[in-house]
Amino acid sequence: MNYQQIIQKTHEDFIKFIYASVMVQEADVRHKLNDIALFKYRHLVWLMQDGVNKKVPFNMDFEYENIAKIRVDNSSDLIEILKSELDKSLALYEGINDATINRLRSDDSYFIEELGRVDVESKITAFNENKKLPGIELSDESKSALIFFLMEETFKEYELITIYSYLKVHSDIAVADAAFTDLAYDSVYHLKRFADLASKMGVLTLPRPIPHDKYENIGVVKFLKENIEEEMDAEKQCLILAEKIDNKELSDFLLFVSRQELYHGELLQRALNAINS
Ligand SMILES: [Fe+2]
Ligand SMILES: [Fe+2]
Repeated sequence: MNYQQIIQKTHEDFIKFIYASVMVQEADVRHKLNDIALFKYRHLVWLMQDGVNKKVPFNMDFEYENIAKIRVDNSSDLIEILKSELDKSLALYEGINDATINRLRSDDSYFIEELGRVDVESKITAFNENKKLPGIELSDESKSALIFFLMEETFKEYELITIYSYLKVHSDIAVADAAFTDLAYDSVYHLKRFADLASKMGVLTLPRPIPHDKYENIGVVKFLKENIEEEMDAEKQCLILAEKIDNKELSDFLLFVSRQELYHGELLQRALNAINS
C-alpha cells in the first residue's frame, strides 16, 4: 500500500470538498458536501496516524492542478467531478484489506451514491470577482480590507489545519495531542466561514502546498511558543478588521472569531505547560 499516494489523494479530496461546499448555492447540497469534507478530514488524520504507527514517511504535499479541477462554471459539473474523484480513491484502495482502508472504502462508496442523488442547477460565482456581499452594503475601504483579510486568512487557516494535524499524529503527549485536535477542528470551521464569505464575494482562492520546513522536524516546544504568537496575531487581525468594517453583522462575526483565537493561545499554553511540567 502506497501511504504517500493515498494520503495525498485524501488530502486533496478534503480540500476539494470543503471548498466545493461553499461554491454551490443549494443549501442542502452545501451541508452534504461539508459533511463529506469533515469525513475526508478524519480519513486523512487516520491515514496519517497509521503512517506514523507503521513508520512510513509521508508529507503534506498536493498537486495544485488536482484541486483546481473544481474551478468549473456549474454546480452539476462540480458534483460530477467530485464523484469521479471518489471513484479514483476507490481504485487506489483496491486489493488493500486493512481496517482504515475498509472504512474509507465503505464511506466513499456511500458518498458516491449520495452524490448520485444530488440535483443541482446553480451557477458557480465563487471566482467571478463581483466583490459584493448579498444584502450587505460596505464602503470601498471596508470592502478592500475584508477581501485582503479573507485571502490571507483562508490560506492561514488551511496551513494551520495541516500543521496541527501533522503535529497531532507525531505527538505522544496527551494534552498536546488533544489541543492540536481542537485547534485543527476550530480552524476547519474558520476556513469554511472565511471561504464562504470569499465565495459570496467572488474572490475565492484555492490553497497552495506548504513548504516542508513549516512542519517537518519542528521541535514541539519551539512550535508551541511560535504559534502562541501566531494565534495572538490572528486575534489582533480580526479585532482590527472588526473595528474598521462598517457592518454590525460582519463585525460581530469577526469579534466572535477573535475571541476563539484568544482561546487558541490558551490551548497552546496549556500544551506547553504540560510538556514543561
Ligand atoms: Fe482561526
Ligand atoms: Fe487559531
